[in-house]
Amino acid sequence: MKLTIVGAGYVGLVTGACFADLGIEVICADNDEKKIKLLEAGGIPIYEPGLEEIVKKNSANGRLSFTSDIKKAVKSSEVIFICVGTPPRDDGSADLTAIEKVSRVVAENMDSYKLVVEKSTVPVETGEWVKKTINAFKKKDCEFDAASNPEFLREGSALEDFMNPDRVVIGVESKRAEKILRELYAPLDTKIVVTDIKGAEIIKHASNSFLATKISFINALSNICEKTGADINAVAEGIGLDSRINKHFLKAGIGFGGSCFPKDLKAFIHISESLGYSFDMLKEVDKINEKQKEIVFQKITKILWNLPGKTIAVWGIAFKPNTDDIRSAPSIDIMNRLIEGGAKIKAFDPAAMDKAKEELGDKIVYCKDIYEAADGADCIILMTEWNEFKEVDWDKIKKVMTQPAILDGRNIYDAKKLKDMGFKYTGIGRS
Ligand code: UDX
Ligand code: UDX
Repeated sequence: MKLTIVGAGYVGLVTGACFADLGIEVICADNDEKKIKLLEAGGIPIYEPGLEEIVKKNSANGRLSFTSDIKKAVKSSEVIFICVGTPPRDDGSADLTAIEKVSRVVAENMDSYKLVVEKSTVPVETGEWVKKTINAFKKKDCEFDAASNPEFLREGSALEDFMNPDRVVIGVESKRAEKILRELYAPLDTKIVVTDIKGAEIIKHASNSFLATKISFINALSNICEKTGADINAVAEGIGLDSRINKHFLKAGIGFGGSCFPKDLKAFIHISESLGYSFDMLKEVDKINEKQKEIVFQKITKILWNLPGKTIAVWGIAFKPNTDDIRSAPSIDIMNRLIEGGAKIKAFDPAAMDKAKEELGDKIVYCKDIYEAADGADCIILMTEWNEFKEVDWDKIKKVMTQPAILDGRNIYDAKKLKDMGFKYTGIGRS
């Protein structure tokens, strides 16, 4: 079977490379010619552990190829996965113009049966629009099916999540489409959930929204711990051991970011509104997440009093560890607030420095490691819990700082040990 992936981004490139690794011939098409040239030259445009090896291996064995000629790619495969961006508009709705564009390219270049699969996260009923668009613009009267096959890939563990998923969800409207998708995923020994297209589209938005709800719940709880002196980590452990709740996504911190949760939450709220249901609960989840950044800012001013003339060391910029992605990263908003307040920022991130430079330019100082960032700092903020930030030479840090203060934005440090060493320690929901 041959497969065309349209959109060689964080999702499309991982999906294409993994399917190639399963023995399927894959063409990854993208309208960003620079990105395609880089991929054809063996380069990888994103940081994702293990991706470089799997792309190189399958490019070498000929199963994985790249093109910016989307028309040709559409013509050459029976199955087309749409993995283009669905970024948020100002009103929170998902921008589906790229999905429409690709649907039209399929329609205009279809000369035999096609299965067109939504992999990008889209609001419910997008599948209806994909079908309408293809029917309206198809040049030849060929049969086709639309389907939804949402991704549940976490950045930083995307390959693992693809190869060992908890489940694969396929939203289909014909036995033919179901058969093709079952065949594609057959090599993965996992549960295949078959629904209609709308069901699959809702499963994706609902999954991300529920995970975001868990995070906002624990962040809201951290405020109560803050006011009572309880430790949020102990509370999270105590509730998480209930198998119905489980321990995952109960880590309090500076809030959730990334290219999915913030965007998908707003898109789900928006589509619900347009369907006549006001999803107030999710609006609260979003509000709590925004408030978390404000709380971090207030903590800093409590530690430093005035910001002008102060130097702050930022450890970690990426929205989470093991990725270079800074899209909707809380660190960016918090740093901008601190800069507006007059502080100087010295930052280090193991993978996201280039993307940070594109976003922040010379508004901050880019350091080569956490020690250079801490040099002359009045306070450290741990924003991203990279493993390499866990073992620190605190004596060395204390010597180079103007005053030994740290805001542990992801609650990863031993508060007592740091306080015994003379650090002013502040956590999120723990003291
Ligand atoms: C995308 C969606 O944004 C997200 O909603 C979904 O969950 C997964 O797919 P991501 O892969 O992170 O996420 O997007 P991005 O990294 O921006 O990649 C999208 C790619 O599509 C880009 O490489 C872009 O150049 C390409 N693209 C976009 C096209 O090839 N054609 C277009 O018309 C628009
Ligand atoms: C998420 C979903 O997990 C994945 O299934 C979906 O396909 C895409 O969106 P991703 O955004 O890559 O994946 O990262 P994830 O590990 O889910 O973390 C998202 C955000 O939540 C990060 O900013 C992370 O710091 C934050 N988070 C996560 C917390 O603040 N606390 C937690 O306990 C877990």
